This record gives sequence, structure tokens and C-alpha cells, in this order.
Amino acid sequence: MLWAAFGINRPDGKRTAPSAKNQQEIDIYVATAKGLYLYDAKANLLKPILAEDVRGVTGRQPSVKEAAANLIYVADYSRMGAYAEDEKLFYSAADTGLISENVYLYCASEGLTTVVRANIDRPALAKAMKLRADQKIILAQSVGYPKKTL
Ligand SMILES: Cc1cc2nc3c(=O)[nH]c(=O)nc-3n(C[C@H](O)[C@H](O)[C@H](O)COP(=O)(O)O)c2cc1C
Repeated sequence: MLWAAFGINRPDGKRTAPSAKNQQEIDIYVATAKGLYLYDAKANLLKPILAEDVRGVTGRQPSVKEAAANLIYVADYSRMGAYAEDEKLFYSAADTGLISENVYLYCASEGLTTVVRANIDRPALAKAMKLRADQKIILAQSVGYPKKTL
């Protein structure tokens, strides 16, 4: 799923989703019951970041703490060169939209459910994730299994 989202799909290191000026500024963090991980696209694996369950802080809706995985899209402004602040936010948001749609399509193909989310207490989540000041939380996205119906 993470490869489909924003993995490397070409020998020159380019990715499954475009990014403005190919700055590849969006990092995908993954919060599960076991901890917080960072998707390492070069190695195509998850790098452990925190051995804590931070799912409950990834959104203001109570259901987020039960999702199998919550993706958190974080823009690393230190990779965004000379853009003005409003441009950094605009491009980060556009680039996140493209990545999150890849997750939607992957979930559709595998019978998973997903919802992208903006309703986040960003300062609380940034604190829980121990982010730097120049790492900005753009959106989160819950991924899980459909409710069983009897
Ligand atoms: C930028 C954006 C932000 C969203 N934020 C939230 C959110 O915080 N919480 C939520 O439950 N859904 C959120 N959604 C999901 C929409 O409410 C949802 O896509 C819409 O109601 C249509 O439902 P569907 O995606 O199941 O077709 C967001 C969608 C987008 C595109």
C-alpha cells in the first residue's frame, strides 16, 4: 500500500505520485497499535520511530484510535527550497492529495476501507510524534477493514 502511495517506481528515484518540482517533501508516517513508523521509500520498508500507540492523537474523531493504521502525511519544509510559506502549504497539500488518492485506489483494489482526514489537533499530534518545527502535518488517513455485517 505504501509503495502504491508514494513508492519509487523508476530507476531515477521518481515516485508513484508527482510532487511539485520533484521535491518529494511528503513523508508518510504510519501509526499502528504497535507504534509509529516512517515509510522509507528507498528501502521500501517501515522504519520504527516510536514504540507507542499514538493512533488516538491522529484525529479528533474517536474512531481513529481503532483503525488498523493511520497514515500521517508530514511535509518536510526543509526540502522545499525557496518557496514562500503559502506556496509551501499549497504544494504540500496538493502533493498529499495525489498520494492519498493512490491509497484510496489501493484500498479499493484490496477490499480495505479508508478515509482521509483534516480534523486533527496538529500541535498535539506534532508533539506526540516529536516533529521538528519545520515538519508540518498536512492530513491523516485511516485505513482498516470493512465492518462485518451479519
Ligand atoms: C481534504 C479532506 C479532508 C477531510 N477530512 C475529514 C475528516 O477530518 N474526517 C472525516 O471523517 N472525513 C474527512 N474527509 C472525508 C470526506 O468527508 C469524505 O470523503 C466525503 O464525505 C465523501 O465520502 P466518501 O469518501 O466515503 O465517498 C475529508 C476529505 C477530504 C478530501
